Amino acid sequence: MYYYRLGNIPPKRHTQFRQPDGSLYKEELVSSEGFSGIYSNLYHTYPPTRIKALKDPVKYGPTRINDYALRQTHLNTSKVATTGDDYLNARKVLLTNADCSISICSPRQRKMDYFYKNAEGDEVLYIHDGKGTLISPFGKLDLRQGDYIVIPRTVIYKLEFEEGPLRLLIIESSSPVETVKRYRNQLGQLMEHSPYCERDIRPPHELITDTRPGEYLLQIKKQGYLHQYIYDYSPLDLVGWDGFLWPYAFSIHDFEPITGRIHQPPPVHQTFQAHNFVICSFVPRLFDYHPQAIPAPYNHSNIDSDEVLYYAEGNFMSRRGIERGSFTLHPGGLPHGPHPGTVEKSIGVKETHELAVMIDTFRPLFLTSDSLEFLDANYPMSWTDPASGPFHEVNTP
Ligand SMILES: [Fe+2]
Repeated sequence: MYYYRLGNIPPKRHTQFRQPDGSLYKEELVSSEGFSGIYSNLYHTYPPTRIKALKDPVKYGPTRINDYALRQTHLNTSKVATTGDDYLNARKVLLTNADCSISICSPRQRKMDYFYKNAEGDEVLYIHDGKGTLISPFGKLDLRQGDYIVIPRTVIYKLEFEEGPLRLLIIESSSPVETVKRYRNQLGQLMEHSPYCERDIRPPHELITDTRPGEYLLQIKKQGYLHQYIYDYSPLDLVGWDGFLWPYAFSIHDFEPITGRIHQPPPVHQTFQAHNFVICSFVPRLFDYHPQAIPAPYNHSNIDSDEVLYYAEGNFMSRRGIERGSFTLHPGGLPHGPHPGTVEKSIGVKETHELAVMIDTFRPLFLTSDSLEFLDANYPMSWTDPASGPFHEVNTP
């Protein structure tokens, strides 16, 4: 990220900064990777350490399936209208390992009446459907269809959505989610060959300073529980902050595709990096322009990664099986590739209007008990017998 500030801050850090009544504002350094990663300094009205009450923690988290056979997997979540009442119980983890978890979330309630923080993972919310606001101590951040919302761990937030379709893809990461290192220069600026730059990153834009006393619930996710913290002041008590660590939005529609004469490999679609996995964006683009080019991908043997594709928009909707909201999991150890007929059919095609999010993990993923209801039993046979299963868009790997 880059340096940003909102509200009022003292001219020098760790110096006296006083409220109108003469008392000091309470400074909080929020730092990642000890003192080696990015950080921000926050200026609170109240001490962020002061709590009113602690309630019993609530068990929270997915049930992992440990005996799922090695097979190509299709989870079709297209028919899901809602996945639960409120934001936290509507988050259904479908795929998980020690590095990341992949969830769907379509809550019935559009506004959270509590605050939430993930104390053990960065979160990336992909707004498949929905329009709303992320409210955090860093300010308001608009959420629009197609946005990736990157929320560093421990950022307290609540979400408010407008009425209408609401469908979120949520990726939790046990390591920091970052922009791609090879696209940054030695001082961290995104370079000319990057598919996006700082202008495409939207920071929070409107600080809320709420100093009213009251009772505020904060649910903190850590180690299989939601810990219930009660405060007698709002978490939105900041008068200002500055630094590099803040939640931000980046729209998939601002990702500028890299194309070539012949088929480009998936790393050209990379959007974010984290330890042991990457997030990529497949966006509308022109196809390969070598006169003999084959736009369909070759068969691929991913010897040390599991590949997950989430189909957001595109022509695959007219295909059998794969629908808007489908996930495919092509696990390491098996080759995958285009479905019968798609290679010849792709020749001469000039462009694609497809939109998809890919998560490639370098350690195997596990399905969860919540994923089973979406399982398409025919998918492993779909390359053998095209009538038995889906037939996906030609350009995804
Ligand atoms: Fe692949």
